[in-house]
Amino acid sequence: MKVKGFLKDVGGASRVTKRRQNNFDQASAKPAPYDPIGAVAKALHPGFLDLKVEAIKVASPTSKTIVFSAPHLPYFQAGQFLSLRLKIGDSLVSRPYSICSAPYETRGDHPIVAITVRLPKQDGFVAEYLYHQVQVGDVIEGEVGLGEFHYDPIRDAKHVVALAGGSGITPFLSMAKEIANGKLDFDLTILFGSVDEKDIILREELEACVCDKVHVVHVLSGQNPGWKGETGFLSAELIAKYSARDTTYFVCGPQVMYEFLAGELKKLNVPRRRIRFEVFGSPRDVTKLQGYPVDMADKVFNLTVCQGRLETVIPAKANEPLAVALERAGMKIHTACRSGACGFCRVKVLSGNCYVPPNGDGRRAADIEFGYVHSCVAYPLSDVRIKVNIPSD
Ligand SMILES: Cc1cc2nc3c(=O)[nH]c(=O)nc-3n(C[C@H](O)[C@H](O)[C@H](O)COP(=O)(O)OP(=O)(O)OC[C@H]3O[C@@H](n4cnc5c(N)ncnc54)[C@H](O)[C@@H]3O)c2cc1C
Ligand code: FES
Repeated sequence: MKVKGFLKDVGGASRVTKRRQNNFDQASAKPAPYDPIGAVAKALHPGFLDLKVEAIKVASPTSKTIVFSAPHLPYFQAGQFLSLRLKIGDSLVSRPYSICSAPYETRGDHPIVAITVRLPKQDGFVAEYLYHQVQVGDVIEGEVGLGEFHYDPIRDAKHVVALAGGSGITPFLSMAKEIANGKLDFDLTILFGSVDEKDIILREELEACVCDKVHVVHVLSGQNPGWKGETGFLSAELIAKYSARDTTYFVCGPQVMYEFLAGELKKLNVPRRRIRFEVFGSPRDVTKLQGYPVDMADKVFNLTVCQGRLETVIPAKANEPLAVALERAGMKIHTACRSGACGFCRVKVLSGNCYVPPNGDGRRAADIEFGYVHSCVAYPLSDVRIKVNIPSD
């Protein structure tokens, strides 16, 4: 911005204000008949939609695929996720799920979008609800087409090796389906790590996509007598066996897998620009992270939530993010990635202290300076007072 001097700037600003006021006065009271740019934006980003559960299918002994339909579904890129918002008891919660159906399935006469939910071994909340309670015919609010985990021909190599573990296979099934249907063009080799053969998630759907551009290699780490395929973990040696000279690696799976795979890819001297990690949610146990204060885990603080003129005081556990405290209290907070990356859940801290995990801090420098946190990864270390925007829907 060019600074011309106090009088010129203030004078200029008042002229602009006057001109805008004139424009308002002369404008028609009738709304514009059609706004093409607004219409495209609305079609691509319709916000939360009512998603009707169309079918529920078994995807493995501990996971289910939930197929949703809606009269209109926005376009998304294979690999992106959707965010579901549910009322469970008194809590108003949301969770991200990678979309396992293909973008082409959102078009045509019967648009659908699907996710596969795996039952966690312990401490499940939303996953338990989706797995055990949700029925065909239920309607759940969802926002479709979020995240950056998708193929980009300008950025990524023509050959992609997908490194998947457990429910981390879902974005790759979406990519495989889209490629097999001729709607996306790159070579995809999926190295899919599971423990036992019987637990392989979405095996039939994956096999159905195998073609000259899609290869699926199952790698089993458990004892599986009679298994003739690859065994062990997704080691550097195995990754090298299935890589081309120039390969982009997409990684999606449980949190423990990321550190291991980062090490294996380093052994292969893969440049960082050729590695794409999907975000993996908030930390399993924040108290074990670097810099988290000792003796804090069991504390419960007062969280004062300021929304406009309304102030509400709710309890906030030190070992849970602020977003969870809001959700437990049944308060609306817009979240998407729940990993600290996207900023949808951003709130301003007016007073008090929070812990933000060092590798989950996706805030811009200006946000850090002006006291904003991403509430999905901000843990209270004292009584805290926050300002929250009231979501529009
Ligand atoms: C980008 C992305 C894609 C994902 N894709 C998939 C996928 O394809 N398939 C899949 O299975 N999973 C996927 N996940 C994980 C998924 O979002 C959930 O984390 C997972 O289903 C487990 O949810 P959960 O609520 O059971 O457990 P968690 O997400 O671990 O949440 C448990 C936490 O819920 C909170 N809680 C407990 N009780 C309450 C209450 N009463 N009110 C409010 N909060 C409470 C507590 O803090 C507890 O620790 C994905 C995650 C990300 C980030
Ligand atoms: S929901 Fe994405 S940063 Fe919190």
